[in-house]
Amino acid sequence: MSRLILDSSNAPEPGQILWRSPSNIALVKYWGKYGIQLPRNPSLSLTLAASCTDTQLEYEMRNGPDDGQIELDFFFHEEENEAFRSKVLDFLTGLLPTMPFLKQLKLTVHTGNSFPHSAGIASSASAMSALALCLCSLEDRFFGTLQDPNAFDQKASQLARLGSGSACRSIFPHAAIWGATAQVPGSSDDYAVPMSEHIHDTFKDFQDDILIVSREEKSVSSRAGHALMEGNPYAEPRYAQARNRLSSLIDIMRAGDLPAFGKIVEDEALTLHALMMCSNPAYTLMRPGSLAIIEKVRQYRADTGHQLYFTLDAGPNVHLLYPGELVVDVRKFIEDHLEEHCEDGFVQQDWVGEGPEEI
Ligand code: DP6
Repeated sequence: MSRLILDSSNAPEPGQILWRSPSNIALVKYWGKYGIQLPRNPSLSLTLAASCTDTQLEYEMRNGPDDGQIELDFFFHEEENEAFRSKVLDFLTGLLPTMPFLKQLKLTVHTGNSFPHSAGIASSASAMSALALCLCSLEDRFFGTLQDPNAFDQKASQLARLGSGSACRSIFPHAAIWGATAQVPGSSDDYAVPMSEHIHDTFKDFQDDILIVSREEKSVSSRAGHALMEGNPYAEPRYAQARNRLSSLIDIMRAGDLPAFGKIVEDEALTLHALMMCSNPAYTLMRPGSLAIIEKVRQYRADTGHQLYFTLDAGPNVHLLYPGELVVDVRKFIEDHLEEHCEDGFVQQDWVGEGPEEI
């Protein structure tokens, strides 16, 4: 592979790149990793639309001798943020062996989310995918190496994975699978692959209303949670179960069988939280409000027959998944019965989206 180094006698003009990238919600969960951000089991997610991160990457050629360092300024919602800067700097430094041109530049990142920072919605998927997309655009602008859209997406997904595992799935519209599985040719542990063409249209018009039960920072981060899977006595059966569920879910989503879909999705959410309760030390991220919502969703389904299902990420907030045609009924149910369990009544309305866009 040719080394990606800029010719300083022919330095590029200063410029900027801006990407908007969404979050995603896992249906079969990634929980447990090894090596350099490699998943213990394949996962499948829906790509969201409203919960996204805008990231602008400004660049100019650096003056002075190469000191092997990356020069980076970082602004989150227009304010300097040292914690985020240092995280991004570590990530970029890790990329230097394949993207050595990064240290030839002065980089300024301006980033911000479409949702309130305090909303308790994990933003690493949207943030790391937006940054990865900016880096791929930068590489392509300088070297023309990512002209093929599939190669571009694959590299963006791979870079996003290195930043945060779940971020690699945000690159694609509607749905994506991350992790090698025999059922999906081309699937890989290194990057996610698009699933949009393999799912029933009903899932492309799906809502995901996120009930914010608590805005508090999680007591155990995802990173720590993944690490605790290494000592979890249920880890191996869990990984086998995830593979089986993924395999069933692929067929179910192709066929558009909503009750079968809902069963697997809810079982996955409860398994994720059960694994936390079986870790050493044990911990719980669900709150009483999360459980109250789950009970009410089950009752609502029994009463109305409506295809409304819940899932959770590694936190207390509950995602409600349902077909778009139910939006009026479900929003009324949320307002009348579920908002009372949300902090300040906050609900982030989201839906399945078309993936990232360059702005
Ligand atoms: C429960 O992708 O946040 O949301 O790779 O350490 O950044 P890191 O973890 P992260 O883990 C996400 C876990 C999950 C399930 C999922 O999205 O698949």
